[in-house]
Amino acid sequence: MLKGKNILIGITGGIAAYKACTLIRLFKKAGANVRVVLTPNALNFVTKLTLQSLSQNEVYIEQFEIDEYKPEHIALTEADIFVIAPASANTISKMANGICDNLLLSTACAFQKPKLIAPAMNTGMWNNPLVQENLAKLKNIGYNIIEPADGFLACGTNGVGRMREPEEIFDETVKILSTNLKLKNKKILITAGGTKEKIDPVRFITNSSSGKMGLALASAAKDMGAEVTLVSTFKVDGFNNIVTETAQEMEKAVKEKMGEQDCVIMAAAVSDYRVKNYSEQKIKKGDSEGLTLELVKNPDILQEISMQNPQLLVVGFCAESENLIENAKKKIQKKGCDYIIANDISRKDIGFNSNENEVYIVDKNLDITKIEKDTKQNIARKILEAIFE
Ligand SMILES: Cc1cc2nc3c(=O)[nH]c(=O)nc-3n(C[C@H](O)[C@H](O)[C@H](O)COP(=O)(O)O)c2cc1C
Repeated sequence: MLKGKNILIGITGGIAAYKACTLIRLFKKAGANVRVVLTPNALNFVTKLTLQSLSQNEVYIEQFEIDEYKPEHIALTEADIFVIAPASANTISKMANGICDNLLLSTACAFQKPKLIAPAMNTGMWNNPLVQENLAKLKNIGYNIIEPADGFLACGTNGVGRMREPEEIFDETVKILSTNLKLKNKKILITAGGTKEKIDPVRFITNSSSGKMGLALASAAKDMGAEVTLVSTFKVDGFNNIVTETAQEMEKAVKEKMGEQDCVIMAAAVSDYRVKNYSEQKIKKGDSEGLTLELVKNPDILQEISMQNPQLLVVGFCAESENLIENAKKKIQKKGCDYIIANDISRKDIGFNSNENEVYIVDKNLDITKIEKDTKQNIARKILEAIFE
């Protein structure tokens, strides 16, 4: 189940850092993609070269060495889970207080997916009420903690503080990632992007949809364990792709596949009209001052599949520049789908082409749930959690 998963391992300055090498091997053997972030102090215990060789990836330490356009602590947050092993008393206490004075700490602060920490320290440090209070704080805000074992410690004493074995940390990681798989065994079809209505072999009518919201939904659904079919004008690795251009092609693809699905999410911006008479030859400019295109109505895919499949969970989108909620309520009543996700395209900071969004989920009873402004990835996860609750 770890095949293709992205695991970020954090290593801090403790003697158990050498065990992180075995942990990396276990994740790699299981097919995961591993990246490693270290505190500068951890370098006293393990070398960058060892970790690079084991992870077969760049190892990250410095906060201010930025090669790409994205600061590293943000780029690293794209992993599926952050496993900090060993977690020193120092790093635990800094994390619990929002301190971000190294790359590992900044990454932990920004990381929004599951986090697992494996404390390892001398018994006196472990029993210190401040360390315990800081661990409790982390637990309260959702960190998973694999508590240290009782045993012989590197400082020559016996007691609680010994980091759990790499195999145990590995198993705990698998457990966390599987309980996160809320959509395991679900099949979801998602449409994304703006359709293209052809005028002639080189011209078409389209819209401003970037497909980012649909793609974020597809990625979030996959992360939550679903098998995703993506019907779109573009192809993306990791999904069952069906590439379509026009509304009619999209309709055909959705109808062919909908019988196998648990849910269909229509996030694509489907053109309401298409050109009545497609020209097989490129239209020449000619002498006339104008050109009139006659348009005919396209099929209403959302309405048709909602009406034809009352048992299927169908979700539509509604992009409005005015009277957002009112129009969303009218749309759900007309289309007969289970949910409408409404977003305001008049705002420059969200919606079309933006990386962020803010949406309202309207259900069949016309009850409304607002999802506050966030990245499209987080909005996507929250939408899926809400509709599959
Ligand atoms: C040999 C040695 C072993 C250490 N082992 C641990 C340990 O197991 N756990 C711990 O919390 N601190 C341990 N420390 C202390 C940390 O290295 C120290 O608190 C450091 O500031 C941690 O930095 P970091 O959290 O940024 O990695 C050890 C220090 C030394 C010199």
